[in-house]
Amino acid sequence: MDIKALKNRAISDIAKAKDLPELNLVFKKYLDKQGELTLILRSLEELPKLRRIQVGQEANQLKAYLRDIFDKKGAGLKEKAMKVAEKKEWIDITAPGKKILAGHLHPLTLAKRKVEEIFQTMGFSVIEGPEIENEWYNFDALNIPKDHPARDMWDTFWLKTGRKKLLLRTHTSPVQIRYREKNQPPIRMLVTGRLFRHEATDSSHEINFYQVEGLMVDKDISAANFKAIIQEFLNRFFEKPISIRLRPSFFPFTEPSFEIDMTCLICQGKGCSVCSKTGWLEMIGAGMVHPNVLKYAGLNPKFWQGFAFGVGLDRLTMMKYKINDIRLLYSGDLRFLNQF
Ligand code: FA5
Repeated sequence: MDIKALKNRAISDIAKAKDLPELNLVFKKYLDKQGELTLILRSLEELPKLRRIQVGQEANQLKAYLRDIFDKKGAGLKEKAMKVAEKKEWIDITAPGKKILAGHLHPLTLAKRKVEEIFQTMGFSVIEGPEIENEWYNFDALNIPKDHPARDMWDTFWLKTGRKKLLLRTHTSPVQIRYREKNQPPIRMLVTGRLFRHEATDSSHEINFYQVEGLMVDKDISAANFKAIIQEFLNRFFEKPISIRLRPSFFPFTEPSFEIDMTCLICQGKGCSVCSKTGWLEMIGAGMVHPNVLKYAGLNPKFWQGFAFGVGLDRLTMMKYKINDIRLLYSGDLRFLNQF
């Protein structure tokens, strides 16, 4: 029973322990229930009396001594472990934060909001209408006869429904009728909406695009009022004077009808693929509301006149942000969208 040798081994084992789990193992080896020193203390009664007193004293002294150095070593290792953990969890409060990717508005939405804001300041009410229409609102009530080519399968997406003939609206003009049914003049209304046409696409034509439809009905309204309002709108939308030209045109629901072109801002009127090299881009279809259309709405054309117009929102957006292909607006390409 060499207590001195045991002491030396225990001291060396304690010194070698690198962390708390290792120190626990050393504790188990010497001082636990089955530890070497515990077993010595338990076997004392087997020794003769004198020897028992001597070994008992030495073993108890060693036990107290070892407990003491275990505690000290344990405290040191605990502090070390805490420092390591602190270092791992350290937060640098001076480091710059990570940028959160907040989404942003689509250029068409930006343009739509701007258009609506401008017309609202001119007293127009902003309303909405359905994207699925019936024949009456999309064609008949707009004086578009049964044999008009716009009703053709080539121009229109008809829906497969039972008896009722439904279609994806081909323009926003049906909302004029819906509004007039429920509102008496004087009227100033504006509707922005999506529409659908079965046609070939190119840099300025899509099959699915947006229009801003405007309608003003009152007494003594003339084409001069229309021209002034549209000129004011375009100047404010583009934040500079815009050159426009009115061309005679034809729409069954307006008489006279015209189309409004504006200088192409992509090429500054020099000619490019968007304006078919003319320097002008057709932006608006418009005219004075046809007397028949007023009659369908129960208004007497002798007292009431008005103008209506449909602006291509996509083309406005293209001119505003210098986008040279309408299809980019619907591509979902983040390289394009992230520029706004
Ligand atoms: C119409 O849709 C008429 N409903 C406009 C109108 C309203 C006339 C009220 C009279 C009174 P148009 O098909 O020309 O007209 O379209 C109007 C505008 O929509 C065009 O000037 C153009 O800016 C835009 N547009 C027309 N077709 C397309 C297309 N395929 N892709 C993108 N924009 C288009």
